[in-house]
Amino acid sequence: MRIAMIGTGYVGLVSGVCFSDFGHDVVCIDKDERKITALKGGKIPIYEPGLEALVDKNVREGRLSFTTDAAEGIKGADAVFIAVGTPSRRGDGHADLSYVYAAAEEIGQLMEGYTVVVTKSTVPVGTGDEIETILRRVRPDGEFAVVSNPEFLREGAAIDDFKRPDRVVVGTEDERAQEVMRQLYRPLYLNETPIVFTSRRTSELIKYAANAFLALKITYINEMADLCEAVGANVQQVAKGIGLDNRIGGKFLHAGPGYGGSCFPKDTLALTKTATDAGTPLRIIETVVDVNANRKKAMAEKIITACGGDVSGKTIGVLGLTFKPNTDDMRDAPSLDIIPALQAKGATIQAYDPEGTHEAQKILKDIDYKSGPYETLDNADALVIITEWDQFRALDLGRIKQTLRTPVLVDLRNIYRPEEVAAAGLQYTSVGRPD
Ligand code: UGA
Repeated sequence: MRIAMIGTGYVGLVSGVCFSDFGHDVVCIDKDERKITALKGGKIPIYEPGLEALVDKNVREGRLSFTTDAAEGIKGADAVFIAVGTPSRRGDGHADLSYVYAAAEEIGQLMEGYTVVVTKSTVPVGTGDEIETILRRVRPDGEFAVVSNPEFLREGAAIDDFKRPDRVVVGTEDERAQEVMRQLYRPLYLNETPIVFTSRRTSELIKYAANAFLALKITYINEMADLCEAVGANVQQVAKGIGLDNRIGGKFLHAGPGYGGSCFPKDTLALTKTATDAGTPLRIIETVVDVNANRKKAMAEKIITACGGDVSGKTIGVLGLTFKPNTDDMRDAPSLDIIPALQAKGATIQAYDPEGTHEAQKILKDIDYKSGPYETLDNADALVIITEWDQFRALDLGRIKQTLRTPVLVDLRNIYRPEEVAAAGLQYTSVGRPD
């Protein structure tokens, strides 16, 4: 199969590379010349474990190429994927679909023969209908089908999620298009991945419903963590105790500083907008959005309390800035709320992140960026773990105690056991557990 992938952002790049690794011929298209030049030279613009090696292999084997010339990829393609960004529209939280519609115009002008146009970008219900209208206007005689095929990739685990998904969702009632989609995902039949065929609108909604449910689950356990702190219970044990019930499931029940990233915050907000516009507001998800935003802000207060109620003139070491480990993505990261709030109260911040420093430097100002975890301890009055990178999970607690000016450790991801931290002589504050 010949595939054109429009957009070499996170989703487009991972999907394009993985499809080529399935044996298809893939051309990745992007208007950003610098990005394409870098990709042609083997440089990957994002940090994603395993991606660079996979790009290299498939380029060498002749199945994967990069271009700024849309015609090169779209002409003669069996399937053209739209994988461009759908950021929150400034001011109102609706998804901005201008890149999606621009891609549709371009596809309309260039496609040849029967073409399946697939939306991978996360788009509100009804966007597929609009794409179809655009294509029909640009190419009244065109032979095509518009399909929704949402992605469920987690940053940091995206290749595995693509190659071993829980399910593939395909929204189209066009039988010829269904067959093309079956061929594209053929390698997954070997491990019996369920392919769920639905209408296009249903498929578009599944994506938002999945992300909103996961955001809800996290927010639920985060509120439970607050309750645990108030009544002297342990949220990790609560999560385990409820998660072993198959109807609930133990995943996405890790209490923390609130969810961030490029998807949950944007998608929950967009879903509430769609629902309100449709006259059926989703009050639960509206609450999730509010509770999560407030939680990120409340984390700074938690740190200040751990520091004795005042951080003015104090130095705080911070470990982890990205919204989660194994990514350099800073979008909506809890650190973006926490650090400026601490600075506003007079704290000086020295921080370390294994992969995110370069991105963080663009947004978080007046931080002394350090080259390793222990460097953040020098002359510091407290150490705060915001993101649970593996390399922070087994730090030398004795060394932390010795180096800090005051022995305060705040762990917003619960990666240490309270007993071991206490044994090292540190005052420990974590999330939803008895200190
Ligand atoms: C999320 C979904 O998990 C993917 O299935 C989806 O495809 C993707 O969004 C998307 O729409 O593109 P991602 O944003 O990469 O993936 O990251 P997650 O691993 O889901 O984490 C999101 C946030 O929730 C992070 O800030 C993480 O720290 C937080 N989280 C996650 C918790 O606080 N607790 C948990 O138990 C799990």
